[in-house]
Amino acid sequence: DGVTVARGSSRDLIEVISANEKKALVLFGSQTGTSEDYSHKFAKEFQSRFSIPTMCGDLADYDYENLNEIFTSVDGFQLIVFLMATYGEGEPPDNAVEFFDYLENECEDLSTVKFSCFGLGNSTYEFYNAMGKRTVSTLTEKGATLIGELGLGDDGRGTMDEDYMAWKDGLFDVLKDKLSLKEHDLVYEPGIKVEESSLTVLSPEVSLGEPDSKYVNPSEDDLKSHKLGPFDHTHPYLAPITASKELFNSETRHCVHAEFDLSDSNLKYSTGDHLAIWPSNSNEEVAKLLDILGLSDKKDIVIKISSLDPTVHPHVSSPSTYESVIRHYLEISGPVSRQFVGSVAQFAPTEEAKALASKLGKDKELFHKEVTAKYLNISDLLHVLSNGAKWTTVPFEFVIESIAHLQPRYYSISSSSMSEKQTVHVTAVVEQERYPNVDKVVTGVATNLLLNIQQAQNKVSDSKLPVTYDLAGPRNKFEKFKLPVHVRRSTFKLPSNPATPIICIGPGTGVAPFRGFIREKVKQVENGSNVGKAVLFFGCRNSNEDFLYKDEWVDYSKKLGDKFELVTAFSRETAKKVYVQDKMLEKASEINQALNDGAFFYVCGDAARMARDVQSVLIKIFVAERKVTEEVATDMVKNLRVLNRYQEDVW
Ligand code: FAD
Ligand code: 2AM
Repeated sequence: DGVTVARGSSRDLIEVISANEKKALVLFGSQTGTSEDYSHKFAKEFQSRFSIPTMCGDLADYDYENLNEIFTSVDGFQLIVFLMATYGEGEPPDNAVEFFDYLENECEDLSTVKFSCFGLGNSTYEFYNAMGKRTVSTLTEKGATLIGELGLGDDGRGTMDEDYMAWKDGLFDVLKDKLSLKEHDLVYEPGIKVEESSLTVLSPEVSLGEPDSKYVNPSEDDLKSHKLGPFDHTHPYLAPITASKELFNSETRHCVHAEFDLSDSNLKYSTGDHLAIWPSNSNEEVAKLLDILGLSDKKDIVIKISSLDPTVHPHVSSPSTYESVIRHYLEISGPVSRQFVGSVAQFAPTEEAKALASKLGKDKELFHKEVTAKYLNISDLLHVLSNGAKWTTVPFEFVIESIAHLQPRYYSISSSSMSEKQTVHVTAVVEQERYPNVDKVVTGVATNLLLNIQQAQNKVSDSKLPVTYDLAGPRNKFEKFKLPVHVRRSTFKLPSNPATPIICIGPGTGVAPFRGFIREKVKQVENGSNVGKAVLFFGCRNSNEDFLYKDEWVDYSKKLGDKFELVTAFSRETAKKVYVQDKMLEKASEINQALNDGAFFYVCGDAARMARDVQSVLIKIFVAERKVTEEVATDMVKNLRVLNRYQEDVW
């Protein structure tokens, strides 16, 4: 009867699909937002290429009791596509937990369901793409039919984009064949509308990450809810940074320690959790993109952003301004995807630019050579394509819908909720890379923002910052710099019994959560608890350069006595590199004994190599100390993981 059911207004999939006349469905299981971004891209392209109205939805937003009826009760319904991320140790993303629970414990029959699946994973982790695999095996067990092949996206090799494109193109070929779908040229159809309004911008009260309240007549209630919370992964808390400092003694490398005060929020944490920091983009990158889009003069015009399709959520607060959208919501400084180049070609300002963009969009090798290897981001690329000519005909709707959304960055909390109840510490190494033949410093968004704040807060003025930010600094001496944050619970936890010994392996910033662990032990001793011994293996390049919290460990040793031992590995002090694993081998019998005595084993830091190397060395230690075969030793380590006595916090 023409009534539309908007996203979020019903949990009944069939109701929402029918009311909005959709014929295909894309569902995402997403932890950090990557899978969600790919899902929107996929839904848009699928709809455009095959003229099939397609809905994209969050797995957590619906119930699945009638999953098997969609194909029989919605006329002409074609396909469900799952984009499923794997998080940490093969766990489902938070928003997919209930879906799997239903599938595995309640669902009986899915024999009418036709589906495809792309997994987003990381091959440096033990449980590579476990969720994509589990989706396919569970659905097919219940009788559903897999169309095409399971796609495996690999963040570990940095090939996620190419893996996605290969899977998608392969799937489209299969669909043409199996479902007899007809493919059309890709034409951009906006799912949202951007309108310039006559409203004016009030002076920004707080701009960092509080875009909702930055502009125009927010209602009293809106403002209140923004300030009072509740705060969670969809509503970050603008947390005051009470203190910050640099932990390194180095000209070109930086590591920032920052302390966030959560006392005025409902946010709680426990030792071992993660702090999510919501960054915004640098002044330089914002200006570059505004410029190449020809929007510099219009940057402060207030715009209203609305959905054209009730099932689409723009993910950008409205009203806003061109500048604010670019600064707070879009991932503009990281690597650009080949898909973006191909799709932006239709709006090129010159025929040459259009030809070049189309060519780069199709040619994987050329794209790698000319774009990826040169570390171009979106504005760099647009500049190169058009030789500096402005891209004034790119609809801003396209900008919002095609550029990935700026995601929070996670940091392992380096304080203890027992010793600092409402203050969260983080330890962040600043991403600044200088490459030969690349004429810019390649920078990370959140970490350079933290460095900017640290320098402003401590009035450091002598260092050259490669990028600067709109810090919306304090208006008076009682105010602090602020950043939007939320807390993410983790499973990386101390043993519940303080007397249980622990072994911690944390080179580099991997030491972060262990600082929290050790601070907790200090507090426990002060409270009169009987604590077990903690051995911390820390590694860095040089004892005088990047030895994190060098002085603090001395202090903790004094307080903990023989309950704490710090073992250091300096990789660049001797001709031969010394890593934490080398030190583990030296302490093989002690480690083995502690594990025999029930110790917990923790690894934090680099997932790509370190975490694997550490596991191999532990297996080696078991082989030597327990006189067992490698196979048996491998099982012993697996068993420790099952018992939760081998825990990893790696990235
Ligand atoms: P981003 O903007 O995300 O950039 C990432 C990388 O891309 C950088 O190396 C950057 O140089 C590079 N890059 C930028 N532009 C381009 C381009 N155009 N082309 C190619 N490459 C480019 N980090 C810590 O320091 N401490 C922690 O305790 C910590 N804990 C973590 C815990 C978890 C669970 C996870 C998932 C991650 C953790 N991290 C931690 C990593 C952290 O979340 C961030 O990924 C990291 O700080 C980089 O964020 P950024 O915004 O500065 O860089
Ligand atoms: P390197 O950079 O000199 O190679 C923190 O980054 C420390 O971890 C550094 O000393 C670094 O050494 C070291 N490191 C690099 N790769 C490692 C690995 N695979 N295992 C353990 N430590 C490693």
